[in-house]
Amino acid sequence: MSDKITAVKLSRMKGSNRIVAVTAYDYPTAKIADEAGVDAILVGDSLGMVVLGLDTTLPVSLEDMVRHTAAVARAKPRALIVADMPFGSYESSLSQAVSSAIALAKAGGEAVKLEGGSEYSDRVRAIVDAGIPVMGHLGLTPQRVHRLGGYKPQARRAAEARSLLLDAEALAEAGVFSIVLEFVSEEAADLVTRRTPVPTICIGSGRRCDGQILVFHDVVGLTSRPPPFAKRYADAWSLMRGAIEAYAREVREGAFPSEEHVVRSKERIQL
Ligand code: KIV
Repeated sequence: MSDKITAVKLSRMKGSNRIVAVTAYDYPTAKIADEAGVDAILVGDSLGMVVLGLDTTLPVSLEDMVRHTAAVARAKPRALIVADMPFGSYESSLSQAVSSAIALAKAGGEAVKLEGGSEYSDRVRAIVDAGIPVMGHLGLTPQRVHRLGGYKPQARRAAEARSLLLDAEALAEAGVFSIVLEFVSEEAADLVTRRTPVPTICIGSGRRCDGQILVFHDVVGLTSRPPPFAKRYADAWSLMRGAIEAYAREVREGAFPSEEHVVRSKERIQL
């Protein structure tokens, strides 16, 4: 596909087009996101919470991410497929990081994302050297929720904003093609966006970024407690619940199946 979005193309969008990204975790959500024309699909480890019903992203395994990345890849989207590296798949060593990234690339990830700053520059460099583009993730990094003390906004103080910028610069230097900024102050996101050569893709970090990303289920209204920064554009929960209620009603009333849903025998059947 000639207009396929690659990591290189996405990176070059900085300063020209606003980047639109959304998460997707399976074949239908990837198809829907791609038909809607997004630039990037993140197979986020948020799937642990929104799809698997977990309380945090911490228990999500590399196997989970491989399975869901493969399902998204089968949708063959025009959008770039970015696969999240789950907690425990890159922290221990460079070789662990590279082999986890390779597993996600074999499943169909066209890039990987990992959470963390300058302390993971060596992981970023090694994965990029192995031929796999890397997206960074700074600010609120949910895999570090216990160290951060909760899902709180980040970089609201000048010193924190400066440290965020140093991390962004270190990641850019190590070779990331873009950086997700999650739940940081608009001013800090603006600083990083202006001072870093790669695009910033923001979630809950204000308006002055190179792009935005949201969780698919928050956008369509399939989560009961979306974060304060998410915007719901539809009420898919009510729509889907209404459909199942109508089906249940028709089964109980004997209205479904009706004539068009049955197959007739070709001859009279008798015992
Ligand atoms: O897992 C995820 O959905 C993410 C986004 C919040 C950026 O990392």
